[in-house]
Amino acid sequence: MLVNVSSHDLKVADRKHHLHPFTDHGNLGVEDRRVIAKADGVWLWDTDGNRIMDGMAGLWCVNVGHGRQEIVEAVRAQMSELSYYNTFFKTTHPPVIELSEMIAGLAPEHMNMVFYGGSGSDANDTVLRMVRTYWDIKGQPSKKTIISRKNAYHGSTVAGASLSGMSGMHKQGDLPIPGIVHIDQPYWFGEGMKTGMTEDEFGLWAARELDKAIEAIGEENVAAFIAEPIQGAGGVIIPPSTYWPEVKRILESRDILFVSDEVICGFGRTGEWFGADYFGTTPDLMAVAKGLTSGYLPMGAVIVSDKVADALHEKGAEFYHGYTYSGHPASCAAAIANLTILKREGIVERVREKTAPYFREQWLKLGDHPLVGEARMTGLLGALELVPDKNDLSLRFGNVGHVGMIARDHAFANGLVMRAVRDSLIISPPLVITEEETDHLVATALKTLDDALASVRAADLS
Ligand SMILES: Cc1ncc(COP(=O)(O)O)c(C=O)c1O
Repeated sequence: MLVNVSSHDLKVADRKHHLHPFTDHGNLGVEDRRVIAKADGVWLWDTDGNRIMDGMAGLWCVNVGHGRQEIVEAVRAQMSELSYYNTFFKTTHPPVIELSEMIAGLAPEHMNMVFYGGSGSDANDTVLRMVRTYWDIKGQPSKKTIISRKNAYHGSTVAGASLSGMSGMHKQGDLPIPGIVHIDQPYWFGEGMKTGMTEDEFGLWAARELDKAIEAIGEENVAAFIAEPIQGAGGVIIPPSTYWPEVKRILESRDILFVSDEVICGFGRTGEWFGADYFGTTPDLMAVAKGLTSGYLPMGAVIVSDKVADALHEKGAEFYHGYTYSGHPASCAAAIANLTILKREGIVERVREKTAPYFREQWLKLGDHPLVGEARMTGLLGALELVPDKNDLSLRFGNVGHVGMIARDHAFANGLVMRAVRDSLIISPPLVITEEETDHLVATALKTLDDALASVRAADLS
């Protein structure tokens, strides 16, 4: 363990030996990096002695907040009893059995089986293979194409990045793999406003892109539609209220599977257990990760409907798929303790009834700031769209992403983690954030906007 090493020396060692995910290493100087050494509740501490509010719950995952000793203790106890055994070859173990029963109890009634992995990305690899296998079993092997959306994020493995609709990711590694089609997203502020449609009309239009794609590909060739209830990494894109009801109507009229990617929305983020509950959709599969363990240990899973599980059970031959760490006992223990906390403390209900309505009320006030074109929030997922001219919302900053990054750096300097996506700032705090902490977060975001506006004006960026 590194003890008594200066903050600077830690950064130098990090620079020498650590390749960071999603990072431009050419632009990451030694002192640009922050070494986070400790966390508790909604707070982080770095090795330079700063206390920073974690407005992103780590990476949208620390739902119950940092530093829960109950989870640490559950993992310790599990590891001293059975630190590892696999779930291949007809074996299982008590924590994976307990967790599966728990998840089935929380998931929509028609979803009762769970397939485990180690992350959200590999959950979506499982999804891709499972939906295609399902249609093979059903005697419809031509049903292979998966419809996803532009600017979706479904992970960073080959399948995850292919299902994702991010062109920058596709350029690296010659993706997407064949058989994946991306339709337009329901992004009102970014794409809908300029069409001349109302927000509701745009929501219907974006939903009907699904129908058009099914028509163009041929229903007999379409395996599934995959979507995040609210796009997270794409910029907290909250669809118009007409979108999900229309998608649901289309899915009911078509013989394709629906995959709800609940990696961010699952386990309380919207104030319901799952985003599908919030929007009233009926998934055949749900990919989950993050909030399943609140990030205390890595774990992902696919929650499988009876319809798909029955096909695998009854007619399936072996499903040649799985990971060494599928259902890892220590991760199961972390998940059980985490879900126990969420239930016992009524955190999901509290988000729905108190935390999210209060947060939203404060957050939307930031929409009055001269730099903000739109403030939006659902559950505990929020965004601020930064614009050069509040009186003309069709205008955007020239060098996309530059102002977003300036604002994000100000947020950090002010002691708040927010994330920049293009020229927007996004937020996804731990679900346990109090009203007092919310006030602090919003006040810091306001100061950040003031600082960013001053930088924009000083550099004449508008
Ligand atoms: C909706 C969604 N799906 C999948 C993933 C990938 O999860 P992981 O980073 O655990 O592989 C993410 C990660 O942010 C996500 O937001």
